[in-house]
Amino acid sequence: MAATLDEINLLEDTWAEAVPYDQFEVLRDQAPVFWHDHPEFKGFWAVTRFDDVRAVSRDHHTFSTELGSTFLADYDEAALELVRMTLLNMDPPKHSRYRRLVSAGFTPKMISRLVDHIDEKAAAIVDRIADREEVEFVEEVAAELPLQVICEMIGVPDEDRHMVFDWSNRLVGGQDPDFRTTPEDGEAAAAEIYAYCDAIVADRLANPRDDIMSALVHAEVDGDRLSTQELNMFFVLLCVAGNETTRNLLAHSLQALLERPEITADLVANIDDDALWASTTEEFLRWGSAIHNFRRTTTRDTEIAGQPIAAGEKVVIFYPSANTDPTHFSDPYRFDPRRTPNDHLTFGGGGAHFCLGANLARAEIKIMMREFLRRFPNVEAAGPHRRMRSDFVNGIKHLPVRLNA
Ligand code: HEM
Repeated sequence: MAATLDEINLLEDTWAEAVPYDQFEVLRDQAPVFWHDHPEFKGFWAVTRFDDVRAVSRDHHTFSTELGSTFLADYDEAALELVRMTLLNMDPPKHSRYRRLVSAGFTPKMISRLVDHIDEKAAAIVDRIADREEVEFVEEVAAELPLQVICEMIGVPDEDRHMVFDWSNRLVGGQDPDFRTTPEDGEAAAAEIYAYCDAIVADRLANPRDDIMSALVHAEVDGDRLSTQELNMFFVLLCVAGNETTRNLLAHSLQALLERPEITADLVANIDDDALWASTTEEFLRWGSAIHNFRRTTTRDTEIAGQPIAAGEKVVIFYPSANTDPTHFSDPYRFDPRRTPNDHLTFGGGGAHFCLGANLARAEIKIMMREFLRRFPNVEAAGPHRRMRSDFVNGIKHLPVRLNA
């Protein structure tokens, strides 16, 4: 356990080692709303208890995403203008109008059509590696399914999907040397993705199809069409939100099982038990908390758990800490496939921004993990896994496994 509050450090180097559960324990106990300095930017209030994370998520009047974005960095006005074109960085009422519009692509009908294809996609992914002794789980399994699903959703042809993979790595991998080789590379990736999106937009304007980009280019908000920039920003949000998170969640799920052979054996023995797989999926989600945190900015003087906070300050909510708060989850460091209830905050705390892709992600995780274990019940680690250096996504870069041990 970190000995004192002076040792708290929630910046990127810490996460490259492990999720700092020890620090969260100290914070939840001694300073649940903790002032954290930042070497480059203005400091922030770190919120770590389950109830407080949920309360902040649900109060968009006081805790805005539009004022300063959802990221820790301080952006200048020009950069803020750009990020405010994505749903995550809009406050109601603007957010509500856009969310309604975008929800056209997330109707139960659209989702169930995608889900129908997830079985086939997961089976094909494991078929392709069936004869191999060892595979790199992150790239060959975990990355593939979300990538194929998001590409189908936005209408990117199969042969282009690896470009989307590369762009989203470079966009969110800014703090990890394996992904971003030069400081300009993140911006270059953004430029490439915008150009690609422009071509899709032009095509859907001329030849509308039954996909989300066609719905968006023809949709209107308050009588206006979405601008090219707004469409670009939504495309990026979907590529990143739909890809990185689900990929990492799958990698953490397998890592949890590799460390717990008795749980793997239980799941293999009950491979057709739907209820067990549904509850295991929720535990994968609680355990793997794919996003470390999101930021809000206070619109007025307020307080959280008795700590006064002035208007205009940064408040950062830590999902993995909420998900292991012992006042809410008994024995929180035990991976329990039958945990009920399991109202983790991995998709957010239930406010206006609650994850639009939650049900899609649930289906992907449940189907992919079940199919993988069905085919490779004796899977075991073939070397150490490597974590991503990021204070934003809970990434695993490499997870080598032996399939038929
Ligand atoms: C395991 C996978 C995923 C995790 C852990 C995750 C997590 C999150 C979280 C924490 C938020 C913010 C919630 C809040 O502020 O209250 C969010 C928002 C969002 N997610 Fe996900 N997500 C996942 C998968 C997906 C997928 C597959 C898609 C799309 C296909 C998606 C699309 C979105 C969008 C569009 C938003 C913004 C919603 C808004 O601002 O109104 N997510 N997600």
